[in-house]
Amino acid sequence: MSQTILVEPNDDLKKIFSLNLSTFVGTDVIFRQNADDVISLLKILPQVSLIITKSKVGQEETALKIFQYLKSESLETSLIILGECPKLANDVLCLQEPVSWEVLVKQTAHHLGITLQDASNKIKSDYLPVGLYYFYDIQKTPCDVFIRIKKGVNEYQFVKRIHSKDTFDKSLILRYEEQGLKEFYIPRDYIQYFTIFVTNSLVQKLENSDMNLEERILTTANAHEIVKESIQLLGLDQATIDLSDASINSMVKSVKSSPEVANLIKFLFSNKVSYAYQHCHLLALMCHYILSRQSWYREDHLQILTFVSFFSDITLKSNQQMEITSMKDLFEANLTDEEKRSVMNHAAEAVEILKDHPEANDYIKTVLIQSHGRADGIGFEENPGEDLHPLSKVFIIADTFVKILLNPELPNKKQDILPIIYSRFTNPSYQKIAKALEQKFP
Ligand SMILES: [Fe+2]
Repeated sequence: MSQTILVEPNDDLKKIFSLNLSTFVGTDVIFRQNADDVISLLKILPQVSLIITKSKVGQEETALKIFQYLKSESLETSLIILGECPKLANDVLCLQEPVSWEVLVKQTAHHLGITLQDASNKIKSDYLPVGLYYFYDIQKTPCDVFIRIKKGVNEYQFVKRIHSKDTFDKSLILRYEEQGLKEFYIPRDYIQYFTIFVTNSLVQKLENSDMNLEERILTTANAHEIVKESIQLLGLDQATIDLSDASINSMVKSVKSSPEVANLIKFLFSNKVSYAYQHCHLLALMCHYILSRQSWYREDHLQILTFVSFFSDITLKSNQQMEITSMKDLFEANLTDEEKRSVMNHAAEAVEILKDHPEANDYIKTVLIQSHGRADGIGFEENPGEDLHPLSKVFIIADTFVKILLNPELPNKKQDILPIIYSRFTNPSYQKIAKALEQKFP
């Protein structure tokens, strides 16, 4: 789904615009307050397709500041200005105020290369974007694949790049990536067919025992990305269930046969593995490490905690959201209200998503809902109590350890991370679990 940033200080307009943009244009609307907010978001999400901004917010020349940033970074992101902006009138579309949502929807559709359809005035894109990682593990596609190129100031054209009968390998996809391409486009009518094809190929690959450990981790990381995106867009369907099962089994396999932890971390960082999967894999690994040192450890505990690791942050969209581990982090984070809400509820929402997953048993649901120390899955508990399930306690300590390890502003050595954990989790059983981490890593 395309992403659009909206800067509109009026709350009513903000609601009307975003609701209609997502309904009719199918774009994901992200709110920002001013130019600096937009610029800092663009640094994390340079692939945003469109920015719609009020010409001025208070005294700030918001549109001008954003325009200058886009120019200086040579970003191709389109801009629409709400209200007059004489300095940019020749370069950018300025909509005269008051702006009606119908006009804004029409202009947005035009900027994103989407055509208006039929009498109901419902706008649908003829092509849907898919991340390049969908192509890493396939050698052919079941349909033609397109790229979107800029034709005029605000016009796009879709050009066929891979024919349905072509065969290719990952090096071709990486070459596109090196050239700065972020997404291919699939004709809307084929999108389901395409995703099922990719999912089946991935399941087959993951179930193949010939893969070496590094290849297995990279393929599982990809599968994780695809499961995450499908769940966020469409919810959990059968193809996603199959892919998640194959991924979790593959994770269990690689966690059991992991090389030295230090080498694994090096590998995860040196390759293009998403933050989400780095976290997920290391978390399963640490859970395994702690579990294998508990007297009550049973084989299926690893399967349970790996399952929870895989799904724990599945609804979160940005790394910034995933990095949050406490209510204090959440309050201080530079996120929109909606982004904060989804961080707040993510444990409960993940459980909700898994209600139709046949493998998600009660243990999994319990650990998942308690994954941030709270029995209702809402928010974060600073110092969780003794009443949680023992597996949840293991998960919480492992999760906190990994989140600190992955945060470049916090210590990354075990002897410096453990004191932070001991001082936060003061209850005896947590201290005991953390102690397991003191033993030497393999
Ligand atoms: Fe989480």
